[in-house]
Amino acid sequence: MAIRRIGILTAGGDAPGMNSCIRGLVRYGLNSKLEVMGIFRGWYGLINEELKLLSHRSVSGIINLGGTMLKTARCAEFKAEEGQRRAFETVKKNAIDALVVIGGDGSFRAAREFYKKYKVSCIGIPASIDNDINGIDVTIGSDTAINTALYALDNIRDTATSMERIFVVEVMGRSSGYIALQVALAGGCEEVIIPERSPDLGKICHDIVQGNLRGKISWIIIVAEGAARAAEVAEKINQMTGLETREIVLGHIQRGGRPTAFSRTLALTLAQAAVDCLLSGKTDMAVGLKDGRIIEIDLEFAIKKKDLPVDKLYNLIKILT
Ligand code: F6P
Repeated sequence: MAIRRIGILTAGGDAPGMNSCIRGLVRYGLNSKLEVMGIFRGWYGLINEELKLLSHRSVSGIINLGGTMLKTARCAEFKAEEGQRRAFETVKKNAIDALVVIGGDGSFRAAREFYKKYKVSCIGIPASIDNDINGIDVTIGSDTAINTALYALDNIRDTATSMERIFVVEVMGRSSGYIALQVALAGGCEEVIIPERSPDLGKICHDIVQGNLRGKISWIIIVAEGAARAAEVAEKINQMTGLETREIVLGHIQRGGRPTAFSRTLALTLAQAAVDCLLSGKTDMAVGLKDGRIIEIDLEFAIKKKDLPVDKLYNLIKILT
């Protein structure tokens, strides 16, 4: 079937670079003689028919903005049969030939299910600060989020060093320690607690006390939100070592802000790849960057648990501390 009209949506947590990606899809799509419909609030907009045709000018002035002009949502309704049926009605009524889904693993899972049930062509573009898509190196937005967290961490370090305190810094990542590991490595942190490894708080406290005896007083411990809460870790360290320990939760600061050059160029080149992928008749796939090249992978493979070199990174952080 020839593709004339595509629908594009952003779903799940926003990620810096989503807007650049939308710009790329609209302008490259129009240049490829496609009509591009923007679907608002992710799957929710497809269920409730919140969409409009986008023009070249609709995406002016967004390349440098965080968030997503299409808005995004976590949509429980789309998990149910009725929500999917209504979304399919919108697809038919608006003559949408294919969908481009910009999001993380949850959004890709939804796209795959929609394709399997209703045979609506779907291409995924990986965008999530969590870097949770399997088979590719990095998602749109994760580089920006790491740099944002690192900026905050460098500021915290100034106080930690000057006032000789222990800080526990909580970063995002419900089921992935990716941000935590990257920030801990790039920030020269002493310890990192992530969902993929069970933490040994007793050992951490023992190390802190031993270090303290050698005159080392300032520590920074990164905690991924899915592994533990910073406040609880800080309280335990305080109780077990008797040393003043403060906690900081970086939270949604990490999701917003100006996308880095890398997040933008990745977004724009993946937008081009997604349109080319659809035009060559492919579906049920994702595009992504792997070893410096843009590749296409099956959505089924993309939603498998990402295999991060967790132990290797953790060991390096510990060696370098
Ligand atoms: O988008 C990914 C993410 O930022 C995770 O790192 C985090 O656990 C989650 O979203 C938070 O989601 P919400 O903003 O819906 O609470």
